[in-house]
Order: sequence, then C-alpha cells, then structure tokens
Amino acid sequence: MTDTTRGELRYEGKAKRVYATPNPTEYLVEYKDEATAFNAQKRGSWVGKGATNNAITAALYPKLEGVGIPTHFIAKLSDTEQLVKAVTIVPVEVIVRNVAAGSFAKKLGLEEGTPLARPVVEYCYKSDALGDPLINTDTAVALEWATEGDMARIRELALQVNGFLTPFFGQRGIRLIDFKLEFGKLPSGQLVLADEISPDTCRFWDAETGEKMDKDRFRHDLGGVEEAYGEMLRRVEQA
Ligand SMILES: Nc1ncnc2c1ncn2[C@@H]1O[C@H](COP(=O)(O)OP(=O)(O)OP(=O)(O)O)[C@@H](O)[C@H]1O
Ligand SMILES: [Mg+2]
Repeated sequence: MTDTTRGELRYEGKAKRVYATPNPTEYLVEYKDEATAFNAQKRGSWVGKGATNNAITAALYPKLEGVGIPTHFIAKLSDTEQLVKAVTIVPVEVIVRNVAAGSFAKKLGLEEGTPLARPVVEYCYKSDALGDPLINTDTAVALEWATEGDMARIRELALQVNGFLTPFFGQRGIRLIDFKLEFGKLPSGQLVLADEISPDTCRFWDAETGEKMDKDRFRHDLGGVEEAYGEMLRRVEQA
C-alpha cells in the first residue's frame, strides 16, 4: 500500500498546493478553493471549488489514459487531494483552440464564437512575472525548455487530448471552445500530461443555450460561478 502522508510543501500556486510524499517519485496535489484571473489581479474563492476541480480532473485523466495519452495521474485520495507522478514541468503552457475566444479573438479582431477550420495549438512561456507571453516552438527549443522532438510530441498529445475531449463533452451538451494543458517529463524522459483539466483551464459553452460554464463567469462577474462548475462535474460524471 502506497504511503501517501503529506511531506513538505514543494510549491504553492494560485489554485493548488504540491506536497512531497514518502515516495520521491510521487507528489500529493491539493486543490484549493481560491480562484484568480487576469494574472492574479482578480481574486476570489468559494467553498467546494477545489473539490469540484479535483473531481473533474480525476474523472478525465483515466479516460485520457484509456485512449493512450500518458498522464501524471495516479489516484484520487480525498475530496481535494490526488496523488500524481512527480515530473519536471516543461515551462510552456499549451493552448488548443477550436473556436475563437478570449485573447485570440481580441488579438485577431474576431467575434468571440467564430469557429476555426482546424484546431489551433498555441504556446506560452509559463511565467506569471511576464504574463505568460506567447512563444513558438523555435523559442522553446532555442531557450532549451524542450527539444524539437519534445515539442512535436507535445503538439501531437495536445491534439489527441482535443480529439478525445471534444466529442466527450459534445455528447454531454457542451462545446469545448479552448483549453490549456501542461506537460512534464518523468525521470525516464517520457513526456506526460500533467496539471489539471477543469473549468479553470477550459472554456465550456452549453451547446443549447450558449451559456459559459467555466472560469469566464468569474473573470467577467457573470454570476452563477459555483453552479456552473458543479454542473460541469455532473456532465463529466454523466454516463
Ligand atoms: N505532476 C507534477 N509534478 C510537478 N509539478 C506539477 C505537476 N503537475 C502540476 N505541477 C505544477 O504544480 C503547480 C500547480 O499549482 P497551480 O496550478 O496552483 O499553479 P499556478 O498558480 O497556476 O502557477 P504556475 O502554473 O504558473 O506555476 C503548477 O506550477 C504546475 O505546473
Ligand atoms: Mg495552474
């Protein structure tokens, strides 16, 4: 039986805490109730937020493993905790877009909701201090954050995640507009999907009403944030 006692706090982010465990190859991730937006300029929290995001991620990652996408996920330990494989995070946020929204729509002068003829994969440097600036594969390779091969594999895996999640949510009455992924390297050198997939990291629109069911409700004070996150968990758990 794996000993999952919390060890020292390794990292505290805006939404999660990462703890060491007695096994150096495993971390315990605790999902917090805090929410932030606009590079932490806007802050809030609600009871149950951490549990909802933990439950959604813990439901999705085994399904992704099931279609051949390697992930860091090992097990859900409690309402707000999960056990994961310790990885070295590639400092690149990987964004997959199916429909123009957010910064992409703004930057290109597109109306939010404009469908894209094929998915767009974008990369940002993971740096809160710099506001996660947009980069490309050359940047990541030149600065030795990843190799050319790593970047090709990351793009392939990101598109595979989209290929699974888009119909998964479609069948549950949700349009997957865009989402952000993080990848990490195991000591073996294998790249795996890390971090979380939740309403914090995805744009979900109700297919019938067009209603936003994700962190944009918090970002733009649309109300019903907690309800939307809860509804997304119900949709994910739907048979
Ligand atoms: N398996 C893993 N091993 C090591 N670190 C991980 C793993 N999965 C996720 N992480 C990292 O743990 C942290 C989770 O915390 P959180 O999501 O709250 O961070 P954040 O505030 O978004 O900040 P940032 O992601 O910019 O560091 C992130 O830095 C993420 O990259
Ligand atoms: Mg994060």
